[in-house]
Amino acid sequence: MAEPSVVAAELDSAETQRDPGASDLDPVSRIILDEAGDLGDVVLVVDDADGALAAAALEHGARVLAACDDIRDEELLPTGVTPVDLTAEPDLSEVTTVLWRLPKAVAAVEDVAEVLALRCAPDVRVYGGARDKHLVPAMNDALRASFGEVSASRGQQKSRVLRASAPTSPARTWPHLATNTELGLDVLAHGNVFGGTTLDRGTRLLLRALHHEQPVSGRALDLGCGSGIVAAVLAGLGWDVLACDASAAAVASTTLTAEANGFGIVARRADGIPLDVAGLDLVACNPPFHRGAAKDSSAAFAMVADAGRALRQGGELWLVFNSHLPYLPVARDQVGPTRVVVRDQSYVVTCSTRR
Ligand SMILES: C[S@@+](CC[C@H](N)C(=O)[O-])C[C@H]1O[C@@H](n2cnc3c(N)ncnc32)[C@H](O)[C@@H]1O
Repeated sequence: MAEPSVVAAELDSAETQRDPGASDLDPVSRIILDEAGDLGDVVLVVDDADGALAAAALEHGARVLAACDDIRDEELLPTGVTPVDLTAEPDLSEVTTVLWRLPKAVAAVEDVAEVLALRCAPDVRVYGGARDKHLVPAMNDALRASFGEVSASRGQQKSRVLRASAPTSPARTWPHLATNTELGLDVLAHGNVFGGTTLDRGTRLLLRALHHEQPVSGRALDLGCGSGIVAAVLAGLGWDVLACDASAAAVASTTLTAEANGFGIVARRADGIPLDVAGLDLVACNPPFHRGAAKDSSAAFAMVADAGRALRQGGELWLVFNSHLPYLPVARDQVGPTRVVVRDQSYVVTCSTRR
């Protein structure tokens, strides 16, 4: 096995060239499968973006488990795959090969690596792939915290694989817990949660505005709940709170944050607002501005439209967003009359009343 200190950025000169027309697979899935070789009998696919890794493993004849943090990725998995939730400490004892599209956040690599090392078979081989530009040296360290052998592959089509084997028995360090003294809350977060246990600056502005302006009653939704920090503040103010997020890590974290603070918040994994949710009095949202590594406002626009559907007439959508983003006209169009409640140098908080 190659020296583990070798990292992606240092390996650019070792790039190997492939015929780009050799396969329909995207470069990251391609190199993961090339590196893995023989897949063995039981394969775990983690964060497959388009179902391609799972399909390849099925074609190989393996039993395939798949863990997708994002529900939108899970919906693209081929039939015949068994979904698993890594935040629920699943039984992976028969898994000997892991095909993993590495997340952008090092914390998420560390969190998932712990689960893999603790739950998979002792002879498991892990192949984590990503575009070179999304790999950082700290990912090697994150893997080394849970595996005895870690090395980087040669580059291929500007992509690379970090290989890990020989799981140690790491202590479970995730989810992280932090006490937010400003809010008087214990906040728990898995590695793939936006902002971890910290309070985002935009979220702080939103919470201050909500605290000052909202009457305290009725059913509220924290849309895109992350660690559950907004949901917990709303519950503390007296709202009956539902929380939703596309991310399994976010839903698990929100549930833990709610429990740690003694709140009965229901957290659900969903792309936007589930269709059976209606008649809400309040939706509060700090919407996503990227998906994975790519900047993308389409989910945010869809979430605003969902709020327009799920609010009762006269109900309110409270949004915080970066001032340069064009959400205000969308809120006006999809929900109703929209006013700016407060703004600072970077963020604006708006309140839209459902017409
Ligand atoms: C900017 S973060 C806000 C997190 C948290 N509310 C806070 O203020 O710290 C946006 C959240 O939206 C979630 N998200 C992204 N796309 C989504 C979708 N289509 N449906 C539901 N949640 C989504 C992300 O997983 C992320 O947790």
